[in-house]
Amino acid sequence: MSRKKIAAGNWKMHKTFQEGQGLAQEIRTMANTEVMNGATILIFPPYIHLQSLVRQMEGSDIGVGAQNIHDKEQGAYTGEVSASMLTSIGVRYTLVGHSERRQYYNETNESCAAKISIALKHGIIPVYCIGETLAERESQAHFKIVEQQLSALSGLSREQLANCIIAYEPVWAIGTGVTASAEQANEMHAHIRSVLSGMFDEASAEGISILYGGSVKPDNAKSLFSMPDIDGALIGGASLASRDFIDIAKSF
Ligand code: 13P
Repeated sequence: MSRKKIAAGNWKMHKTFQEGQGLAQEIRTMANTEVMNGATILIFPPYIHLQSLVRQMEGSDIGVGAQNIHDKEQGAYTGEVSASMLTSIGVRYTLVGHSERRQYYNETNESCAAKISIALKHGIIPVYCIGETLAERESQAHFKIVEQQLSALSGLSREQLANCIIAYEPVWAIGTGVTASAEQANEMHAHIRSVLSGMFDEASAEGISILYGGSVKPDNAKSLFSMPDIDGALIGGASLASRDFIDIAKSF
């Protein structure tokens, strides 16, 4: 997979089944009838929507992904969903290591590495989420934290890395209305590429899509997307309104 322009919507824990169907239909119609500037659109709804939205998006270029994946093949893990369950309904993407999962569900770089590995084994593209907290940025630890988070990729081959997407989401910018400036975001994206270049090689680092996430809206998307190392966005709140989500996707 080479670098793509990607607008990805993370619905988090929002939308009933019926609301989700309505939102997805609006997104599909707008993406089909408006000029999209070559953006790939991905949506990450809660589990209950996955099977119907995969079907609803058949025949379109819109991809549907899970927000989480379990790191074991199967077994006594009440409440969890496995990679083969996801592929059995046609899911081809999953988020891994979103900061909310790290914060509330104790996900670590090690558990993320296991999730990335099982996703790739099953042909699912992981969108690996990384990013520092406000305290970490204020103490100038942000580059180091992101480097540690990237260590979850260290066991991958170059071919496997090429099937991953990275999302840089500074925790202080998520749901706060405070966006990283385009320069701040690009600085970190360039740093991520340089770390990956050391771990793999320059071509691998240049080839991977790196999305920015954190209060992306229609009015700031253009300046973020104009930066050389920002390939797209992982959008929370604004992905719950079809007009805003599509307007962001049209900002490339
Ligand atoms: P917001 O766009 O609501 O800040 O959320 C970003 C995010 O966490 C996407 O995964």
